[in-house]
Amino acid sequence: MRLPPRPDLSWKDDGTPVDDRVGDVYYSIEDGLAESRAVFLDGCSLPAAWQDRAAFTIAELGFGTGLNFLATWQMWRSHRPAAGWLNFVSFEGYPLDREDVARALTPWPELSDLVEQLCTRWPVRAKGVQTITWPEERLSLTLHIGLIEDTLPQSRFKADAWFLDGFSPAKNEAMWADTLWPTLAERTQPGAPVATFTVAGAVRRGLREVGFHVEKKPGHGRKRERLEARFSAEDAPPAPPISPRIAIVGAGIAGACLARRLSERGANVTVFDQADAPAMGTSGNPLALVMPRVDAADTVQARLLIDAYLSAQGFYRGRLGVQTTETRHMPRDDAEAERFQKLLADPPLGLEQLEAIRGGGVLHKASMILQPAILLPSLLDGVDVRWRTAARIDLAERRVNGEVFDAVILAAGWQMPDLAEHLDLTDRLGQVEHYQSEVDAPPSALAAGHYALASGPHRLWGATFADHDGAAPRSSDAARAENTRALDALSPYWRNEALKAALQSRAGVRATTADRLPLIGALPDSATLIADRQILERQAWAVAPSAYAIDGIYLAGGYGSRGFTWAPWAADILTAEIFADPTPARVEALHAIVPNRQILRKLKRKLL
Ligand SMILES: C[S@@+](CC[C@H](N)C(=O)[O-])C[C@H]1O[C@@H](n2cnc3c(N)ncnc32)[C@H](O)[C@@H]1O
Repeated sequence: MRLPPRPDLSWKDDGTPVDDRVGDVYYSIEDGLAESRAVFLDGCSLPAAWQDRAAFTIAELGFGTGLNFLATWQMWRSHRPAAGWLNFVSFEGYPLDREDVARALTPWPELSDLVEQLCTRWPVRAKGVQTITWPEERLSLTLHIGLIEDTLPQSRFKADAWFLDGFSPAKNEAMWADTLWPTLAERTQPGAPVATFTVAGAVRRGLREVGFHVEKKPGHGRKRERLEARFSAEDAPPAPPISPRIAIVGAGIAGACLARRLSERGANVTVFDQADAPAMGTSGNPLALVMPRVDAADTVQARLLIDAYLSAQGFYRGRLGVQTTETRHMPRDDAEAERFQKLLADPPLGLEQLEAIRGGGVLHKASMILQPAILLPSLLDGVDVRWRTAARIDLAERRVNGEVFDAVILAAGWQMPDLAEHLDLTDRLGQVEHYQSEVDAPPSALAAGHYALASGPHRLWGATFADHDGAAPRSSDAARAENTRALDALSPYWRNEALKAALQSRAGVRATTADRLPLIGALPDSATLIADRQILERQAWAVAPSAYAIDGIYLAGGYGSRGFTWAPWAADILTAEIFADPTPARVEALHAIVPNRQILRKLKRKLL
């Protein structure tokens, strides 16, 4: 099953939720909130532990109803250090539905405002990593959804405190398995506390064996004892700068999402672009569609595509120039029809996201139509953007046009190979047709290889995917003819209206990669990689995503025709990287998108 299972939920007479699969309650019958504070917050010496910290990461096993998270958030609101940022990472295998969470948390009216904020952003039922950020609260929640033996090893973060809350060990061994302790220790900062309600011998032993000092403490309410542990100290890694200076080269959707996220997180951002104004380049079509690419098999790639799509949904929702709409996606040929069928037999997203439609199609219920001319300026609002400025970059010195930065992010779309060596990007010319109708339409979208969009007076369809000669993109009659044929196949009705209109064409260039995955991460130090080829060959080419990186230089590109979908996810990943926050992606996804894969592939094939 690609969808995460629901818990076997039932409710006791006093309103306490129980998972009948394990026969245990989500929180204490007496007063769950008071217990959460006593066991976890006091157990980890909060708020004192985060007082002098620019960023603090709490990790939790068992997100459940989110009660511990909300108790922490409530404390964060009243005891947050100035300019501090709280990361809360939690693991959940059997996500609850939003309605059940709202019901479970009714006993605590003092949390109602936070419950509402959590429930409106409640994660989508899907396996993977979902990050919810509340920038005005200086808080983000990273949820790893899936069974713990799969999700914990695939996570990347260093916890400053741990809440272990995975039901009673006697009833739910999987959440306390011996194999988890070494992984947990790897994800713990030296000196960090661990708190839990259980004093089970296996838990104490497990923690001790991986280097925690463990102590029993008096329990809360009727419980006799609880546990506190502390990771034996070694030197902590240096803290990242609090307000790093970041240069972003490129003010298209890739750069704009990065600028927004990094500024919200506290960075001092400068964007460089040769254009005169926002939305002039490939990101500047009058309308853009955000729709998932859903692969039929449950692969690393399929999962990261879902993560990226859900990240885009969360990022764009409620922003200017963004509308949610259903997209009717019909298969374009027999092979795709078969793929859709396979997908719908075991879908990775639930009915609130997609369902089957007659004729073998898929209805994407939470897809989005964006108006880049409105969205991009709003993302760049308040950001220092240097328009009409070509960036001259000194990678080794992290200097752009003479200014030194803590990090430089190359997000220049198809012009990226001008900025760095050994990037394998293939340009593809994409043309769309558009016009303004006299009739306002609700947001609507059709797709079958090509796509057609309507929103208010705007109509747009395309796009072609053709070779590009490197010149400034130009539209062509041949591309218009292809788009007209495609529109006819999508909807003869739309085509009839279009035939009467004054059409405009717009061409843009998309940079694609050989494996159709983006390049997100550190810019590889290609010279050292090439020089080390023999060492690497002996090590079976095992290279960590962060190895062979040019310090402080990052790439965000190779988005192909999915720029609007990749951009928010990439922005989250690189923002986390720069601030040393929990990575909002699985480790296997980082390997799949790491820029050094292109050079490694060539070295392996002896092409370099
Ligand atoms: C006691 S509840 C957590 C309560 C939660 N901290 C709260 O504040 O509401 C335990 C949670 O662990 C989750 N869980 C149990 N076994 C799991 C497993 N093998 N993998 C991942 N999550 C699991 C359960 O679904 C449940 O939500």
